[in-house]
Amino acid sequence: MTDFLHAKLVVTGASGHLGRRVVELLAGKGANHLIAATRTPDKLAGLSGVQVRRADFSDPASLDAAFAGADRVLVISTDRIDVPGLRIQQHRAAVEAARRAGVKRILYTSMLNPDRSFIPFAPDHLETERAIEQSGLEFTILRVSWYAEGLLGSLAGPLATGKWHSAAGNGRISYVAREDVARAAAAALASSGGANERLDITGAERLTIPEIAKIASEVTGKSIEVIPTSDEALEKQLAAAGLPPFVIPIVLGTDRNIRAGYFDVASDAVQRVTGKPPQSVREFLTANRAALRA
Ligand SMILES: NC(=O)c1ccc[n+]([C@@H]2O[C@H](COP(=O)([O-])OP(=O)(O)OC[C@H]3O[C@@H](n4cnc5c(N)ncnc54)[C@H](OP(=O)(O)O)[C@@H]3O)[C@@H](O)[C@H]2O)c1
Repeated sequence: MTDFLHAKLVVTGASGHLGRRVVELLAGKGANHLIAATRTPDKLAGLSGVQVRRADFSDPASLDAAFAGADRVLVISTDRIDVPGLRIQQHRAAVEAARRAGVKRILYTSMLNPDRSFIPFAPDHLETERAIEQSGLEFTILRVSWYAEGLLGSLAGPLATGKWHSAAGNGRISYVAREDVARAAAAALASSGGANERLDITGAERLTIPEIAKIASEVTGKSIEVIPTSDEALEKQLAAAGLPPFVIPIVLGTDRNIRAGYFDVASDAVQRVTGKPPQSVREFLTANRAALRA
């Protein structure tokens, strides 16, 4: 964190859950030149000690103004996974704008193993990583595991019915709390060290779905039976449950990724860059017990 107090730092997507938390953490550490870039500056009106600028990856001119003078920019991947191809265009525009602005380093929230994945939007992340490498800028790629927050949704059905239909087999996944992702991203953005690294931002433990079900049962007092299910049967169940068509391949791809070992990664990066270990799944579910009862 040598030049932390002097460096001009930009966080895009600053009114999203992750971006806002990164900004709050950096402001709390006393960052002097912190720029929160967002499509909706009004939402950040209450933040003190932070310069708010408008930035929309679909409006490159806004990015020139938002990134002007910046030393390091954290590009938070957008949520536009509903329209194939849109997100990669948005991310390319952000990388190109960072290059035009003469930014020294770009940081980016990618996903685990984007080059080996059944997740339909994995190519967005892979292509963005490539665009960043080709930009010639210094980079830090944060390859983020699935948020533990996603588990709250995944567990709603199993807690209501007592059954968890899963096609993940005995594969493992290292869920990470979004707060730990924010802490890691803030620390990485604050640091001028470690250029051109890829960091796997994961929880510390790799768990199977039956192990997660057991923890959730112990935390809530409700029993959950994991029912091994084929991809085809799961797809039918998800469609019958009324999930939006673009979400079904993501849920299926998650189980296939777990089964294939593509999410079986537990790195020490969160602990290393922040000095504090990530929350365990048990700690996370215990802290969010109220949401599990809903
Ligand atoms: N690892 C996981 O399990 C997981 C789960 C969900 C999402 N994600 C990814 O991680 C990102 C951050 O997570 P989150 O929890 O903060 O999501 P979120 O609260 O849904 O935020 C969505 C983000 O997308 C940004 N965005 C959307 N359109 C944009 C555009 N045209 N230009 C610039 N930014 C745009 C928003 O920025 P503004 O509104 O401030 O402009 C906001 O930061 C998500 O966008 C998604 O790519 C990962």
